Amino acid sequence: MALRLIEGGREAGAPPGLLIHGAREIATLAGGLRRGASQDDVAALQAGTGQAAEPLVASWDGRIVGVGRRDEVLARLEADGRPLARFARLDARGGTITPGLVDPHTHLLFGGSRTAELRLRQRGAGYLEILGAGGGILSTVAATRAASDDVLFAHGRRWLDEMLAHGVTTIEAKSGYGLDVATEIRLLDVADRLGREGPVDVVPTFLGAHAVPAELRHRPDGTDAYVTSVVEEQLPAVAAHGRARFCDVFCETGVFSAEQSRRVLEAGARLGLRPRLHADELAPSGGAELAAALGAVSADHLAAPSEAGLDALVRAAEGERPVVATLLPATTWYLMSDHYAPARTLIERGVPVALATDFNPGTSPTPSLPLAMTAACLGLRMTPAEALAAVTINAAHALELGGEIGSLEIGKVADLVVWNVPSAEEIPLWPGANLVRTVVKRGRVVLERPD
Ligand code: NIG
Ligand code: FE
Repeated sequence: MALRLIEGGREAGAPPGLLIHGAREIATLAGGLRRGASQDDVAALQAGTGQAAEPLVASWDGRIVGVGRRDEVLARLEADGRPLARFARLDARGGTITPGLVDPHTHLLFGGSRTAELRLRQRGAGYLEILGAGGGILSTVAATRAASDDVLFAHGRRWLDEMLAHGVTTIEAKSGYGLDVATEIRLLDVADRLGREGPVDVVPTFLGAHAVPAELRHRPDGTDAYVTSVVEEQLPAVAAHGRARFCDVFCETGVFSAEQSRRVLEAGARLGLRPRLHADELAPSGGAELAAALGAVSADHLAAPSEAGLDALVRAAEGERPVVATLLPATTWYLMSDHYAPARTLIERGVPVALATDFNPGTSPTPSLPLAMTAACLGLRMTPAEALAAVTINAAHALELGGEIGSLEIGKVADLVVWNVPSAEEIPLWPGANLVRTVVKRGRVVLERPD
């Protein structure tokens, strides 16, 4: 594949502006967080008949300075004193422009392989059963502890490049395969360094409470003892290290209870780490209730929330700081479950919904957010427009970055994708095809793919 990947900062001598023309449609996602009926609205501008009505996007020094109809955008550039001669041009050739996609839940960094697990699961072994027998997350922990920083960095680079090639310009990356201070810090450090190298931005999350490590599992009080070590040992070290923005927990019956999860998330919050959690992935476990009670940024998975948990998320959505429901349908599919999250209920009751890949070696080894959009359309019965809002503006809000990224609006970062389809509605309609034509990050073309 003749794929051009351009690393680093803006090339010396390149003009500060970029003007993108020739789009059949621009899905701007302008207008803020989506919930209820507005989740189905991508605020699209379509090409009309006259040239004056052609939709354009313009950026300057990495920020959007114009988006809309040709006449309006050109008038604005002139009024702002930005001469057209200082803009490079990009022809979208009848394609669709969207904001760069945001993946708000990934386990980017890990060592080893979980290849043998699929056969076990095909023969009926349960996910938590494999974990209980020392496989699953625990086998990845052993391989991750043994991996050098260079190996983890190269692995992260490989999969970040795959994500970028699928239109993703910002991701969240969790630790959680170290389960000891040194390895958890190494994972956060590698995630941070990958983001600094660019072009994809990486937001690190501390997930020390992902599983109880093998060395404590034989103790009857092993889970509580591990929670104590996360609270008293890992969290202070992670906060002092200063790379993680969020604290996450695998809140699930049989892993960490809602009470244990609360201990970790409250301790994290006291140290400045905003809470988010794996909530009710496999069974109602009090995760949604806890997310609402803590004012978490995001409650993720939600394949099996209780009625009370749903009610709590609805009440939070009515307040000032809604908890974003980040759904992970590629995981449900890969786990061969037919128990998908109640996305229609969440949307109809006004809870903002985001989507993520959950990229990880065991339950969702896909780097493709467009594939997760397809899974959302088929498994969650979300419309293509709802799915696009879920991987752009709502995903940005799930990372508390809704003011910076996730929509094409003046002042925001110029992260965008040109797709080789005439309408955003088509993006999830071709699973397995890569429809990305061009990716722009901070106003620079960072990836071009041939049609
Ligand atoms: O989100 N559920 C917990 N964590 C991941 C899976 C991690 C693994 O199996 O390695 C998830 O599905
Ligand atoms: Fe996860």
